[in-house]
Amino acid sequence: MSRRAEVEVSLGERSYSVRIGEGALADLSGLLEASRPTSFLFAVDEGLLASHPLLLARPELRTSAVLPVPGGEGAKSPQRLLAAWEAFARAGLDRGSLVVAAGGGSLTDLVGFAAATWHRGIPWIAVPTTLLGMVDAAIGGKTAIDLPGGKNLVGAFHQPRAVLCDLGFLGTLPAGEFATGLAEVVKAAVVGDPELFAFLEGESGGADRLRRDPDRLLEVVRLAAGVKAAIVSRDEREAGDRRLLNFGHTVGHAVEKASGFAIPHGRAVSIGMALEGRLAEGRGTFPSGERARMEGLLGALGLPTSLPRLDLGALLEALTADKKARGRRLAFALPRAIGRVEVVEGLDPREIRAILESAA
Ligand SMILES: NC(=O)c1ccc[n+]([C@@H]2O[C@H](COP(=O)([O-])OP(=O)(O)OC[C@H]3O[C@@H](n4cnc5c(N)ncnc54)[C@H](O)[C@@H]3O)[C@@H](O)[C@H]2O)c1
Ligand SMILES: [Zn+2]
Repeated sequence: MSRRAEVEVSLGERSYSVRIGEGALADLSGLLEASRPTSFLFAVDEGLLASHPLLLARPELRTSAVLPVPGGEGAKSPQRLLAAWEAFARAGLDRGSLVVAAGGGSLTDLVGFAAATWHRGIPWIAVPTTLLGMVDAAIGGKTAIDLPGGKNLVGAFHQPRAVLCDLGFLGTLPAGEFATGLAEVVKAAVVGDPELFAFLEGESGGADRLRRDPDRLLEVVRLAAGVKAAIVSRDEREAGDRRLLNFGHTVGHAVEKASGFAIPHGRAVSIGMALEGRLAEGRGTFPSGERARMEGLLGALGLPTSLPRLDLGALLEALTADKKARGRRLAFALPRAIGRVEVVEGLDPREIRAILESAA
């Protein structure tokens, strides 16, 4: 029996556990038995549905309603949401029903939102199949779809009943998607877990070796998911500490946008962490040694730490457009140390410009 781990999200009667390890998906049988839903729908990444051994082994896929969903950000569209609601109607889902969502963060965001809105909220279980989903997207109950005007514009908080992180899914994940997840793992470490950071630093074999070592992978997912779970348990609706998870994302989102989304999220966040680290260093609130350690780890994991050729004007525009849209001053989650981040508001745009210019 392979090793397993569990992390708790503590939110009173909405508490649930994140079950991690090879074979975690098999826990679904017990969960279904215990909850005895009136009906049941399985929403699955269509690319994995026909081919992934973990899914082919699931009896529910032969006996219950199945909704195949295309992978990737395109899943988070109003059209896909409508298709999900229509599938829920065909399956006769009511308040006693259960939806299981197996896929990456895009799929769990979409299907979680469909469950949040169906009959004003029906139970769902998240089965993240990407590293990013396991350590971030599937935990915490944020669900959303995109509109042409922006990402995640329509959404709801709707906690799942359980999160099953079956590490067996990661074997088929493309290397680039694994790297995206690793960027969020480093983020979790800098935000709240110096031991996770040190563990990653000790990984001399880089991303490839980590991915092939089930014990190390389990440890990394357990610790990173633990950071997210602990923060969500303190601040479910992002009134306080949950904002710390935006570390690397203010600059990261701007880099994504200014590149016309040619730079994938995880790489953009890695660049964002490096630049926001330098911003904090420049303010005298993040020691140079810690900043260098952070960039060293990102580099060792194959993640970028410097700005690619981008139009600086477009980058600054993307940063301030974000600010205008939110109607408030530019806020950053900046590191003070490895394992400790703080929210800093009202930064002088010239300070940010200087950092971007020096990094270009
Ligand atoms: N709700 C939250 O709190 C939260 C947090 C972070 C990110 N997100 C959202 O998550 C989304 C990104 O999620 P993602 O990085 O998981 O990417 P994704 O869901 O877009 O999936 C990326 C690709 O990987 C494929 N894939 C998924 N699992 C696979 C597997 N096991 N083997 C092979 N291929 C597989 C998918 O089909 C897709 O092509 C974004 O929309 C982001 O906004 C949400
Ligand atoms: Zn992210």
